[in-house]
Amino acid sequence: MNEKLLDIPTVELDESKCVMRIIDQTLLPGETRVIELKTAQEIWDAIYLLKVRGAPAIGVAAGYGIYILACEIADEIMTEASADESSEQAAREFYARYKEKSDYLNSARPTAVNLSWALRRMDDVCRQVLDEVSGSGSDMAGMMAAVTDRLCAEAKAIHAEDIQTCRKIGEYGLGLIKPGDGILTHCNAGQLATSKYGTATAPMYLAHEKGYGLHIYCDETRPLLQGARLTAHELAAAGMDVTLQCDNMAASLMKQGKIDAIFVGCDRMAANGDFANKIGTLGVAVIAARYNVPFYVCVPVSSIDMNTPDGSGIVIEQRPDTEVTEMWYEKRMAPEGINVYNPAFDVTDHELVTAVITERGIARAPFDESLRNMMNEKD
Ligand code: MRU
Repeated sequence: MNEKLLDIPTVELDESKCVMRIIDQTLLPGETRVIELKTAQEIWDAIYLLKVRGAPAIGVAAGYGIYILACEIADEIMTEASADESSEQAAREFYARYKEKSDYLNSARPTAVNLSWALRRMDDVCRQVLDEVSGSGSDMAGMMAAVTDRLCAEAKAIHAEDIQTCRKIGEYGLGLIKPGDGILTHCNAGQLATSKYGTATAPMYLAHEKGYGLHIYCDETRPLLQGARLTAHELAAAGMDVTLQCDNMAASLMKQGKIDAIFVGCDRMAANGDFANKIGTLGVAVIAARYNVPFYVCVPVSSIDMNTPDGSGIVIEQRPDTEVTEMWYEKRMAPEGINVYNPAFDVTDHELVTAVITERGIARAPFDESLRNMMNEKD
């Protein structure tokens, strides 16, 4: 067990080298390797290949990623600029290249809304600064410095807010559990999916600090095993009592009364409370309803997409067949040429959700109303 795991940032910016560093999560738990990302291709690949994953961490990586690419674009513009180029022309050229890179990063994964949310937030800042500075008589170097500085500050704000958000989710969630509870979670909505605490795991970390003595059950989460490789690893590294089970064993645990509550994360929640999370979450929710186990979804407000009325509008990412047929097996285990169904996420109906825990509080049914009120509130 690597005790240092929780001290290593999931995502961080090295400003002096203008690179992003992430834990390569595809290598966990066997190897804890931190890698550097600098080019658009490296950042896109890291998101697509799940080297950095989990909705909030993807948002943080997108913020730092587009900032790093903006610095590269600023250098290019300064090198290529002709003496008679106006700052308005340079601003237009900068933004065209910026938008192209932003769209490219946004294409890496479709379901987790934090990717497009963070890029839109950065885009708003970029356009605003370019507008302000291009008409202000500032020279080109001043304009490029202004836009990259503000993008850097915004990316850092996304990162810092994520830590605060998860802490708050933990505080609200803590009120829903008691010492000694058995808690089940699916996938990894832990520190590795965020900047600290996780979302679904935040109440567990806070309960652990208070000595609650929880028994945590992690679904292994086929096919990419985020539960086995990541959640079991990070919670055990934090010193918690963790038991790993295959996904198809969760029903039997609930039937035996071993689970007092379920906490899961969320990649995108629609306005009515339907939500996408790792494939298999829907099954857990159905079983929880059968055995009257409270089913809680931990969701930063940044993952609530009020523009999507219900779960039918959430695009579900399809992943390569080989994740099911070959990955993790010494030899391919399924027949060659077999048809494979491999959606990365499913959508759980809001009727199966006991409560939605956000950094602004706890929302209960009717969710269309409670979520709308919550989204209209100021932090
Ligand atoms: O495919 P992944 O590993 O990115 O899926 C992650 C999940 O489904 C998480 O539960 C979700 O992103 C919430 S993370 C706080």
